Amino acid sequence: MGFSTDCIHAGQEPDPTTGAVTIPIYQTSTYVQPELGRHKGYEYARTQNPTRAALEANIAALERGKHGHCFASGMSAIDVVFRLLQSGDHVVAGENMYGGSYRLFSRVLEKFGLQFTYVDTSDTGAVRQAMRPETKIVYLETPTNPMMTITDLAACAEVAHAGGAIVVVDNTFCSPYLQRPIELGADVVLHSTTKFLNGHSDSVGGVVVSNSDELGEKIGFLQNAVGAILSPFDSWLVLRGTKTLAVRMKRHEENGMAMAQYLARHPKVKKVYYPGLPEHPQHELAKRQMNGFGAMISFELGSKENAAAFLNRVRLCSLAESLGGVETLISHPETMTHASVPIETRTRLGITPGLVRISVGIEDVEDLIADLEQAFETL
Ligand SMILES: Cc1ncc(COP(=O)(O)O)c(C=O)c1O
Repeated sequence: MGFSTDCIHAGQEPDPTTGAVTIPIYQTSTYVQPELGRHKGYEYARTQNPTRAALEANIAALERGKHGHCFASGMSAIDVVFRLLQSGDHVVAGENMYGGSYRLFSRVLEKFGLQFTYVDTSDTGAVRQAMRPETKIVYLETPTNPMMTITDLAACAEVAHAGGAIVVVDNTFCSPYLQRPIELGADVVLHSTTKFLNGHSDSVGGVVVSNSDELGEKIGFLQNAVGAILSPFDSWLVLRGTKTLAVRMKRHEENGMAMAQYLARHPKVKKVYYPGLPEHPQHELAKRQMNGFGAMISFELGSKENAAAFLNRVRLCSLAESLGGVETLISHPETMTHASVPIETRTRLGITPGLVRISVGIEDVEDLIADLEQAFETL
């Protein structure tokens, strides 16, 4: 089926008990077994829940993967993927990624003997050079958060697979509407469902989609063994969100492009980072690998004072962490999402005190631009 049809129907058979068109919230912790050793496929709700199972099948279909597993947050989804490894294993990861992922790697997982090498993954040669015999995962974000650098997924998958590693892609910034890494060779795709997949800024969650039965079985085992599952209510909310993913993303995308063009023309903006602009260094790669350029834009205002004055003045845009909601969210990566990244790394990557990140929502774009315009007047 086409993507929009899958958004609405994949994994969502009418409820077998009542025929309810919308999958009910199965708010139960356990299931009656008719006799010892016989049950209906559901024993205990950490292990199986029909609302969660519907969402897992839905997102797996959207990512063109085989299996989906949902978690209590994006971070718990990422954490579970690394529990596939053991002490001494090595990971090649992008040097510019969500600050919370870097914090998990450097302050938690390294304590358990995992080793990380951070490289600019937009340079496939750097990924190749960082590979070691014990490399088990190549971990990628593209576009990166917040610098919007693009990594060639197919080329990196080739390098990783040649070295015996799997490729894991955090696809949160794009959603499967804009980019489907499994079709480009990735083995595992994960998301913070908190963002575009849910889309309404009212649920925190995560998902891991795998492209093989072997990986799916391992992730499923870990989901049950570790237990950081998505609740039935959150599963229902995200399912409600994915139904409109295609129409929301189309509008996000249109507004994102209009906003990027406005910012690129603005005399008070020093630089705009958006892969849809022809001056973006990987614009051609983005065109090839993505089905559009999305709604995430970063831009440079030159100083912390300028960024603060601007962010304190916006009215319609909400100054907030997070992204991917129907409402426009605006943030300051240096002190918010990327505060846990060491200052030297931040400076090298361009996460400066003057950098602002915007997640463009689906409001009328003229209203959003008018809001930014009045905020620029204070600079
Ligand atoms: C790209 C990316 N990955 C993962 C996460 C973590 O997700 P969560 O906040 O749902 O734990 C975030 C959160 O902002 C993110 O932006």
